[in-house]
Amino acid sequence: LAGFIAGIAAAGKRASGGAPTTTVDVLFGTQTGNAEFLADELVAGAKARGLGGRATPLDAVTPEQLAAMSHVLVVTSTYGEGEMPDNAGLFWDAIQASTVPRLEGLHYAVLGLGDTSYDEFCQAGKLLDTRFEQLGATRVHERVDCDVDFEDPAALWSTAVLDRLAAEAGAQPSAVGPTAGVTASGSAAGGAGVSRASRPGSQWNKRNPYRAPLVANRLLSSPRSAKEIRHFEFDLGDSGIEYAAGDALAIVPHNDPALVDQLLTHLGADGSTDVDGRRLGEVLRLDREIRTPSKDLVADLVQRAPGSELAAVVSHGDKHELDRWLWGRDVLDLLRDAGPAAPTMEQLLPNLRGLQARQYSISSSPLAHAGRVHLTVASVRYGDVHRSHAGVASTYLADRVQADGEVDVYLQPNAAFGVPADGDAPIVMIGPGTGIAPFRGFLHERAAAGATGRNWLFFGDQHRDTDFVYEDELTDLQDRGVLTRLDLAFSRDQAEKVYVQTRMREQAAELYRWLEDGAFVYVCGDASRMAKDVEQALLDVIAGQRGRGAEDADAYLADLRRAKRYVRDVY
Ligand code: 2AM
Repeated sequence: LAGFIAGIAAAGKRASGGAPTTTVDVLFGTQTGNAEFLADELVAGAKARGLGGRATPLDAVTPEQLAAMSHVLVVTSTYGEGEMPDNAGLFWDAIQASTVPRLEGLHYAVLGLGDTSYDEFCQAGKLLDTRFEQLGATRVHERVDCDVDFEDPAALWSTAVLDRLAAEAGAQPSAVGPTAGVTASGSAAGGAGVSRASRPGSQWNKRNPYRAPLVANRLLSSPRSAKEIRHFEFDLGDSGIEYAAGDALAIVPHNDPALVDQLLTHLGADGSTDVDGRRLGEVLRLDREIRTPSKDLVADLVQRAPGSELAAVVSHGDKHELDRWLWGRDVLDLLRDAGPAAPTMEQLLPNLRGLQARQYSISSSPLAHAGRVHLTVASVRYGDVHRSHAGVASTYLADRVQADGEVDVYLQPNAAFGVPADGDAPIVMIGPGTGIAPFRGFLHERAAAGATGRNWLFFGDQHRDTDFVYEDELTDLQDRGVLTRLDLAFSRDQAEKVYVQTRMREQAAELYRWLEDGAFVYVCGDASRMAKDVEQALLDVIAGQRGRGAEDADAYLADLRRAKRYVRDVY
């Protein structure tokens, strides 16, 4: 930290010849790594323009340090319902205080990453932008809020902002050639291509995925289970992809051709129609989101079909009611609801978003499963009396990739979520359902590395006899002394619900001892309820054991967060 503070003190205008005149502090808030990736790109872009640059997680910056900075670019995603990402929450809390120093000397701009399918689109970026302004900082460029396809708008924003800062500083480019700018091109290296290209196997990305053979597809849960949880393995071949346990793999899915046909039939469209030089059927299968209706589509349908059920729900003006009504309904359901007022295919197309890659936490370890990536995925399937519905990527993998088939994939590194560098450090892993995925990777990683630290897993699902995935492996890891403690919570095996947090509370004294012994705590799985309840359980355990109240427990957990000893991969 001392070095960091010294670095900040030296920031801003420097007199010495040759050294950069302006240091751009790129502060990022990231949940899955995209904002961190962009932050690295911005630093590279700043340096290429002869500026100084440095990327720092928002939570590592105090208000005092912020006030000492001259040029700040904030890149942040938004998590859950308009919340700060996990490594920005402490920063946000800190700059809310009435006592924070003013930011009169600060020049800044904000880039928000988000997803327009959420209500609180890019809320974290909006909040920070507004707060900086309130504190007297000077906005040097308008904020841009990026949707899931963030690459192009982010690159345009980055180029514009960095060019302006460089021009103001009168800086001389320190390098020319391919790394000199942040480009909006769809180059194989993505964005500016500097930091990403330095990571092995990282030339593979959204626009240039690696075609990986799917070499295993096996049912983990019992056929009698209410769930279908599958184990997949991909061969990385000579891709050069080097992942770490805890990273995610992005799957570029194809839509179900049967669903594409139903859509075509419903709208009386012909799949062979030309759309910008391609067949409509292909465009719908490979390029467009045809499952989850976009906000634009909902708005369009309300206008076209004022007599529809959707229009009636929207007219009540209750967001939660609308969310409930939309839950589980797909594009075809909405078109049916609109009846004869439904748009034509031509009118529909502009309101269908691009088909997005889906990310899954990797469940293997490169040390134990060389050359392969494993995923643990719940197949999303549900239906009513009228029709069945299926998740896009999970059923693409489960049903539609043929034997010996290949899948377009790329790595989504998650540097914040991995086993501790210190092999002696104890770890506590909380991962019900498919939240177990990264922890299977962690356990195999630690076993293969010969790490001696203790490992404690909290796992659960509905029923022990149908949903205890990887039971044999976990038992084996226990026998080998790798898995020190395994606490199971099968929620529906008894009258009252038992969840992972029930077990955490039961084990409060022991859990707190682990924390005091320096344990790292990891949570993976459902963000909407589980992760919140688990956090509350953690706070209750800390408060109960320390006996110093809720505020003290908050501070204790905040310290863990700051030390990167409380990290989550929740979705
Ligand atoms: P349930 O479906 O019986 O309520 C994996 O999905 C497991 O997580 C299931 O056993 C599920 O229980 C449980 N679960 C559901 N809500 C939860 C919550 N808020 N916190 C922890 N576990 C939860």
